[in-house]
Amino acid sequence: MTDLASPRQAEANIDSLFLERWSPRSYLDQPVSAEDLQTVFEAARWAPSCYNEQPWLFLYSQEPTLRAKVAATFAPTNHIWAQHAPVAGVIFGRRRFTHNGKDNAFHAFDAGAAAFAMSLQANRLGLGTHLLGGFDPEPCYELFDVPREDYVALAAFVLGHRGAPTTLPEEYQAREQPSARKELASIAMEGRYQA
Ligand SMILES: Cc1cc2nc3c(=O)[nH]c(=O)nc-3n(C[C@H](O)[C@H](O)[C@H](O)COP(=O)(O)O)c2cc1C
Repeated sequence: MTDLASPRQAEANIDSLFLERWSPRSYLDQPVSAEDLQTVFEAARWAPSCYNEQPWLFLYSQEPTLRAKVAATFAPTNHIWAQHAPVAGVIFGRRRFTHNGKDNAFHAFDAGAAAFAMSLQANRLGLGTHLLGGFDPEPCYELFDVPREDYVALAAFVLGHRGAPTTLPEEYQAREQPSARKELASIAMEGRYQA
């Protein structure tokens, strides 16, 4: 088992869900239930967004043919492990606000919040998620029939029951553990910025 405690020491008293979520690369060859899928995307639904636009769109598949096509968009270093996750998907952001048609500069910010909610909820269910910026967005519009004039393919993701690190290629096995963080004082400051 991975030792969750070691690289993840909180500097303040936070809920354990923040420390327990991490991005695994090893997944079991076991489907995710429809109920669990509903639950993780329901959590995403409650994320905050500018004007409550909810500009996120999570499109995914665990049907082998479409899933393999999504995985084929992954960068080779991601494909090597992420192709084995039972669910593969893409998060899109809606380019313009519905209420006035103006560009929504915050769509990616909001979709990121929704993705984090999804990840936390998945972890609570004993599932793992991994976001992937290393993917080719271009084929994703056609794969999922998404109008590119309305949406941007922001990031891919995989989801599934966590597997054993030993199922990964050797170079990924050592990385299969929760990562550390910068110091709290370097990311949040009261008053003026201090380098
Ligand atoms: C927008 C975004 C893109 C990412 N892209 C990749 C990726 O292409 N490949 C990868 O292995 N991890 C990717 N990650 C995962 C990060 O490397 C990971 O979240 C980070 O190292 C912190 O580790 P943790 O999530 O396990 O806490 C991405 C994460 C985010 C939020």
